[in-house]
Amino acid sequence: MRRPLIVGNWKMNKTASEAAVFTRDLRKRVPVSPYADVVLAPPFTALESVRNALGPSSLISLAAQNLHWEPYGAFTGEVSAPMLRDLGCRYVIVGHSERRTCFGERDESIQKKVLAALKFGLAPILCVGESLADREAERTESVVTAQLSSSLAGLPTQDLATVTIAYEPVWAIGTGRAATTEQAVTVHRSIRLFVETGWNSESASAIRILYGGSVTPQNIESLLASDAIDGALVGGACLNLDSFATIITFAQRPRA
Ligand code: PGA
Repeated sequence: MRRPLIVGNWKMNKTASEAAVFTRDLRKRVPVSPYADVVLAPPFTALESVRNALGPSSLISLAAQNLHWEPYGAFTGEVSAPMLRDLGCRYVIVGHSERRTCFGERDESIQKKVLAALKFGLAPILCVGESLADREAERTESVVTAQLSSSLAGLPTQDLATVTIAYEPVWAIGTGRAATTEQAVTVHRSIRLFVETGWNSESASAIRILYGGSVTPQNIESLLASDAIDGALVGGACLNLDSFATIITFAQRPRA
């Protein structure tokens, strides 16, 4: 049985001091639960203060929003997997659509990032998703499959076990226009089939597939009602204590 995973992607929001206050408040609001995993992905500059605010034995884990594929070197402005590990990160978001569209990330570098994360002990949260034009042209499945194929090509089964996939339709991110549960489930099923075909059925039933794109306290219940959706990658709604705590509380309910 896959445990739900809720990831809060803070994007470029909150200073280190604001992050510490928010994290301490969140800890007070969210009960410890064995029924869901919770991950915070603050900006690089707030990773340390969030880690300190979480405390050493926290069940909430830390993620970075990006990484460079080399472990060190002359790459001004970049941050590597060993640096993130050393700060206490367990996860790293890779290939977010804002990285793809605003910073020109391509599947080739995304694959290198996935491999670097795995090599240095970080669990990648690989983001895939179609644009509105792709969806309207009925290319959703082929676009998502192509992104997955090139980012996960040749990955050994034991490495794939550490990967989480986040299906995030580009048209749903930050727009207030979430995919319907039905739309998300259709794509999630095709992603699971892709994993089954490329690896095996054990990998397909074990891998967590999150939905992201305008997740709110209002739509989380419907999304999580489907066993095809293993959690959410939450942007805007994770910046507000009430909304994020509500989303987490829904995910922590024992699933039927
Ligand atoms: P959103 O962002 O929840 O604000 O749509 C999701 C994401 O970009 O991961």
